[in-house]
Amino acid sequence: MVNKATKPTDALIGHDAWNIQLDKNGQLKHFLTTEGLGSEMLTRILDTAESFANINEQSVKKVPLLRGKTIVNLFFEASTRTRTTFELAAKRLSADVLNINISTSATSKGETLLDTLKNIQAMHCDMFVVRHSDSGAAHFIANNVAPNISVINAGDGSHAHPTQAMLDMFTIRRNKGADFGKLRVAIVGDVLHSRVARSQIHALSTLNTGEIRVIAPKTLLPTDVEGMGVNVFHDMDAGIEDADVIIMLRLQKERMQGARLPSEQEYFQLYGLTEQRLLLAKDDAIVMHPGPINRGVEIDSNVADGPRSVILDQVSYGIAVRMAVMTMTLGHTNTGNKNPGNKEATE
Ligand code: CP
Repeated sequence: MVNKATKPTDALIGHDAWNIQLDKNGQLKHFLTTEGLGSEMLTRILDTAESFANINEQSVKKVPLLRGKTIVNLFFEASTRTRTTFELAAKRLSADVLNINISTSATSKGETLLDTLKNIQAMHCDMFVVRHSDSGAAHFIANNVAPNISVINAGDGSHAHPTQAMLDMFTIRRNKGADFGKLRVAIVGDVLHSRVARSQIHALSTLNTGEIRVIAPKTLLPTDVEGMGVNVFHDMDAGIEDADVIIMLRLQKERMQGARLPSEQEYFQLYGLTEQRLLLAKDDAIVMHPGPINRGVEIDSNVADGPRSVILDQVSYGIAVRMAVMTMTLGHTNTGNKNPGNKEATE
């Protein structure tokens, strides 16, 4: 539990929230949201990730870029993909990694978030990777840590999940090329509660995507959706017609208050991605999902495991993207080195 006196609030995700992401030279210091970062910075993240991608396919998957650095994973919410790929990314960069088990930490004895942070900070660490159920938690931490520490948001409430969005952009670029202007991207499902969708929409918009569609029942869309620069569809068949990229979202029942859906079966009838429906998209359309997937709720198993699915590639690319963000925020690839991974490969 976050102490009331030091609780992050939505007010922290205000107009100038993203400014603290950049240092005085305009370089990435923290990575908290895709909002407010320009296309040059997002492209630099993707290019840097590209330079790390082949390291993950080598027999020796390690470079010494972050040797001597200490990275702390602070996950106050459950995670499979994000926590493990952050840990792997840090280890492949030769950093020391500390995984704090929140359920067995002093948080369970009532220690406040700030006190926990101060104590870990006293151990001379260099980065906090934070997942928290409160929107604004990562900003709150970035505003309260020592100036030498970088903070990466690994998902805060329904606000943002920027590294997920960037690994999704990386997956799209790998499959469809660098010109996002040619693409029609459809995001389907529980946009209202999805930090992933929010971060994706900002990134897709910044990268000048040709058309961004969101497809969902009215009850699963934010009230301000019309102002997000997207085209809204409530009919799934119309929404995915001629799409190049279809991104399916999980129903986030843990964030839903009250009944927003008739039933999972009816939801699948109306919004589930089946092989039949997929025929409406472009012949070479790719199917994405941030995971975890709920088979038979938002996506049919035949599609999730089928030839158009790049869902597991997204997970693999997550390591390279997180390596990129870690090195950039710690100041190791901001100088224009196009190939930091290969240059410093080690045994
Ligand atoms: N996509 C994602 O954030 O998955 P995890 O919750 O498993 O980290």
